[in-house]
Amino acid sequence: MNLFEQQANEFAGRHIGPNEKETANMLKTIGVGTLDELIDRTIPASIRSRKKLNISSAMSEHQYLSSLRQVAAQNKVFKSYIGQGYYDTIVPSVILRNVFENPGWYTQYTPYQAEISQGRLESLLNFQTMISDLTGLPLANASLLDEATAAAEAMTMFFNLKNKDHDHVTTPKFFVDSNVFAQTKDILLTRAQPIGIELVTGDFRKAALDASYFGAIVQYPDSNGAIHDYRQFIQQAHDAGAYVVMATDLLALTLLTPPGELGADVAVGSSQRLGVPMGFGGPHAAFFSAKDDFKRSIPGRIIGVSVDAQGNRALRMALQTREQHIKREKATSNICTAQALLANMSAMYAVYHGPEGLTNIAKRVSLLTRTLSGELEGLGFTNTNGSYFDTIRLSVKNAEALRQLAEARKMNFFYSGGSVSITLDETTSQEDVVNILSVFGQLAGTDLVSATFDMDDRLTNIPSSVTRTSEFLTHPVFNSHHSETKMMRYLRSLEVKDLSLNTSMISLGSCTMKLNAATELIPVSWPEFGGLHPFAPADQWKGYRQILTELEDWLSEITGFAATSLQPNSGANGEYAGLMTIRAYHAAHNGEHRDVMLIPISAHGTNPASAVMAGMKVVVVKSDDDGHIDIDDLKAKAVQHKDQLAGLMVTYPSTHGVFEESIKDICQTIHDNGGLVYMDGANMNAQVGLTSPGLIGADVCHLNLHKTFAIPHGGGGPGMGPICVNEKLKPYLPGHVHSADLEVRASSNGKAATGTQGHAVSAAPFGSASILLISYAYIKMLGAEGVTNATRYAILNANYMKARLEKRYKILYSGANGTCAHEFIVDLRPFKASAGIEAEDVAKRLMDYGFHAPTLSFPVPGTIMIEPTESEDKAELDRFCDAMLSVFEEIQAIEEGKADKNDNALKNAPHTQHVICADEWKHAYSRNQAAFPLPYVRDSKFWPSVARVNNTVGDRNLICTCEPVSSYAEEAVAN
Ligand SMILES: Cc1ncc(COP(=O)(O)O)c(C=O)c1O
Repeated sequence: MNLFEQQANEFAGRHIGPNEKETANMLKTIGVGTLDELIDRTIPASIRSRKKLNISSAMSEHQYLSSLRQVAAQNKVFKSYIGQGYYDTIVPSVILRNVFENPGWYTQYTPYQAEISQGRLESLLNFQTMISDLTGLPLANASLLDEATAAAEAMTMFFNLKNKDHDHVTTPKFFVDSNVFAQTKDILLTRAQPIGIELVTGDFRKAALDASYFGAIVQYPDSNGAIHDYRQFIQQAHDAGAYVVMATDLLALTLLTPPGELGADVAVGSSQRLGVPMGFGGPHAAFFSAKDDFKRSIPGRIIGVSVDAQGNRALRMALQTREQHIKREKATSNICTAQALLANMSAMYAVYHGPEGLTNIAKRVSLLTRTLSGELEGLGFTNTNGSYFDTIRLSVKNAEALRQLAEARKMNFFYSGGSVSITLDETTSQEDVVNILSVFGQLAGTDLVSATFDMDDRLTNIPSSVTRTSEFLTHPVFNSHHSETKMMRYLRSLEVKDLSLNTSMISLGSCTMKLNAATELIPVSWPEFGGLHPFAPADQWKGYRQILTELEDWLSEITGFAATSLQPNSGANGEYAGLMTIRAYHAAHNGEHRDVMLIPISAHGTNPASAVMAGMKVVVVKSDDDGHIDIDDLKAKAVQHKDQLAGLMVTYPSTHGVFEESIKDICQTIHDNGGLVYMDGANMNAQVGLTSPGLIGADVCHLNLHKTFAIPHGGGGPGMGPICVNEKLKPYLPGHVHSADLEVRASSNGKAATGTQGHAVSAAPFGSASILLISYAYIKMLGAEGVTNATRYAILNANYMKARLEKRYKILYSGANGTCAHEFIVDLRPFKASAGIEAEDVAKRLMDYGFHAPTLSFPVPGTIMIEPTESEDKAELDRFCDAMLSVFEEIQAIEEGKADKNDNALKNAPHTQHVICADEWKHAYSRNQAAFPLPYVRDSKFWPSVARVNNTVGDRNLICTCEPVSSYAEEAVAN
C-alpha cells in the first residue's frame, strides 16, 4: 500500500483493535492458520457472500471532516418558528462539553449493573423528579423515544387496563382532540389499528364520551398554541370510565397548572426544549408521568431508590419484572433502548437553571410572544388564540406570499390550512420579534414597524384559571449547581461513578459496545445538523438529504435488500416497523387474516412484545440441545398455522452466538407456508460484508445502528433501528404526515425512499436524524473493506477469548466447526451446586477487577454472554480473560473448601472503597484480594460507588423521585 492509500485507510487501524502481530498470535491460540480460514470455518458456505460491498472507499478522518463541512454547508439553518413539538434551545456549554460530547457519559451502557452506574442513575432520577414536579404526577419513567410514541404508549396502556381480555374488547374507543400535534395523531393511528382500537377525532369541547371509551388525549397548549382548561373534560371522561392523557410542554408548565392538578391520569411530551438541539428530529427524550395506580403498567424504565448490602442508599432500575425482556408477549410495551443521554441533558439543564431560571426563560418567551401578538394586531393581523404561551396563530389571506417573504429573511413559520402559526423559544430575542414584524409589515405594505416591549410580567395571555400556583423543583439538587464551576464538578462527580468505554471494555453480548470514534461524533454538535427543525422545507436540508440517501443506499447494500427506512428510533421500534410492513403486505395480498408470528424461544423479549403490538399472535418455536432452532418443531408449527402464518422473527447469527447451518431451509419453510421472514439485525456485526439478511432469505430486517454502526449507547439510548426490506415490502415502508417533502425526494433520485406510503412509526420523518451522521461517518471512513474487516475481527476477538476461556469454563453452543460467531456464552450454572456461586456473583466480582459484566442470563439463565467487538486489542482481551480465569480460581477455592461458601470475595462483591478502608475487616480473605485481585488493577483502580444493590427492598417500597431532604436528615441521625 502506498503512503497516500495508507492515509485514506488509517481509520480502520484506529477502529480495529488487534494489529498484524497480535492477529497472528491470536490465530495460533485459536488453532487456525489465517483469518480467512477462521471465517470460512465460522460462516456456512451456503450463505457466504463473495462479492465486495458496493460502498464508497475509505476516507481518512481529516478528509472526512473537511468533506462533511461542504455537505453541511448545503443545509440552511433558518430561524425556526415552526414549533409543533420542536423548539430551538440554548444548550449550556458546560452540558454540551461535559455530557453530550463526553465519552464518560455517552459510551455508557444501560444501567443494569447498578453498582457501577450510580452517576447516570442519579441523573435519571433527577429527570424523573423534574418530570414528576412539572407535570404534577407522582410517577415518571426515565424517558421514551419521542412525544408521539409516548402518547401511543399511554393509549395502549389505558386500552390494556380497560380491556384485559383482548378477545372480548368492551371499550374500544379512544378520543383524540383535533388539536393534538399531527405527527402524534398519525402515530396513534398506526398503533391503534392492529390491536383494534377505534380512534374518534373531534373537538374536546363537544365530545360526548360514553362507556365505549377507554381513554382520551388532549394537547396542552394545543397544536395551535391555545391554552384550554381541561378540568371539565377530564371529569366527564372519568365519569364515563375513561382515562385521560395530556400531551404537554415542560417549559409552559413552569407557568401553567400542571396536568396532575387538572385531573389527568398521564402526561407525556418531549423534553427537547430543555437544552437538547432539534437535530432535524432527534434524538430527544420523551417523558411519561402517571398517577401511582399505573406503576405496574407504565412503559419503559423506572429508576428507583433502594439500599446496598451495607444499608446505604443506592439507586437501580426498579420493577423490571414489568419489562418486555421478562414479560415477552405479555409485556405492555416493547420499549428497550430509550433516550437516556438526552434525558440526562434535559435533567442537567433543569439542575443548571433551577426553578427560577426555568420560570424566567418561560416568562421571557411568553412576554415576547405577547408583544408580537399585540404589535401584529396593530398591523391588522389578529391572533386567533385567545390565550397562549409561546405560539400565536393568524389567518392570512396570502400564506404563500408570507412564506416567500419570511424565507427570504431566513425564517420558517408553520403553515397549515390557510393559517400560519409562529412559535417563539428560548433563543428568540427582541430583535427577532422586530424582524418577524417587519415581514408582516412587508406583507401589509408598510415598512413602518416597531415594537414596544412590555416588561410587565403578569402574563395576561395565560388565563388565571390555569396559572401555576404550585412549587416545583424544590429539591436541593435543582437549587445548588447554578455556577459553571459547581455544575462542572457535579457532572464530574457523577461521571466518575460510572464505568464507561473510556474505563475498560464492555463485553455485553448482543449489545456490540464497539468504539464510538470522536470523529464520528463531532459533527453531531455542528449547528448545520443540530439546528434544523424536522419539518423544515426540503430545500433547506439538502446536506441531510445527501447523507440520508447515501446511508440508505449503503444499508440496503449491506443487508442485501432493496430499500431502507431510517425512521425507527430503536431496535424494538424497528421490529415494530418491520412487522407492520409484513402486515401491510399480507393485507394487500388477501392475507388480512395472517396473524401468526413464529418466534424462537431464544429470541430477545422485544420480538414477542413487538409482534403483539403489531396485532399478531405469538407461537413459540423450541430450541434443540445445541441451542439451534428446532427444525422439526418449526416445520410442524409452520404447517399447522399455514393458513394464518404471517411469518417468523429470527435473530442471525442466533442469540446463542452461532451461525445456524439450516437458516436458508428455515426461511424456505416459512415462505412455503405463506409467511415472510423478519430478521432481527441486532447481531449484524457478525454479518457485514460476509453474508447478509437478503442473501440468507429474509424479507425485512432492522439494524441497531447503536450496535453495529457505532452510535454510542448513551447509558440507555439514543439508538436508531432503521429497517431494510426487499422489493416486495418496499411499498409498505413507514410514511409521515409531513411527508410532502419526502415525496419530492423520492422522485428526485428515482427510488422509493422513506416515507411515502404507510403510517409513521416515529414523530419525525427520519427519526433521530442527527445521530445518523455517526453511522454515516463509520461507513464512510471504513469503506467496503473496513466494514467487512470490522466483522472479521469481531469474530476473531470472540473466538480468541473463547479459546482462552474454554480451558476452564464450559462454553455453551458453537457452530459446526467448533467456532463461535461474534459472541459466545459461558455457562456458570455448574458453580451453583459446586460452590453456591451464581452468575450474578461473577458479574459483581468482575467489577472489583475493573470490568463491566457481560450480558447476564440472556438468552440462557445462569450464563454470561461475551461479545468483545473488533475494537478491543489483544492486551484488553487478555486482561478480561485473566480476570475471568482468576475468578475461576476463586470459585475453585470455594469448591475445594479453601474459601468460605458464604463469606467470600464473590458473594461480597463488589467491594467499595468505604468497605476496604473501614476500620473493621471481618472476612477470611484479605482486603488486598478483595480490591486488587490482579496486579493490573493497582495501576488504575475503578471503585464501584455502592456495594451490591438490593432490588427487592426498592421494589417493595417504590421511590422514583429524589427523596425529600428530610429523608437525608433522618439518615444522618440514624448513622
Ligand atoms: C437481539 C436483540 N433484539 C432486539 C433488541 C432491541 O433493541 P433496542 O434496545 O434498540 O430496542 C436487542 C437489544 O439489545 C437485542 O439484543
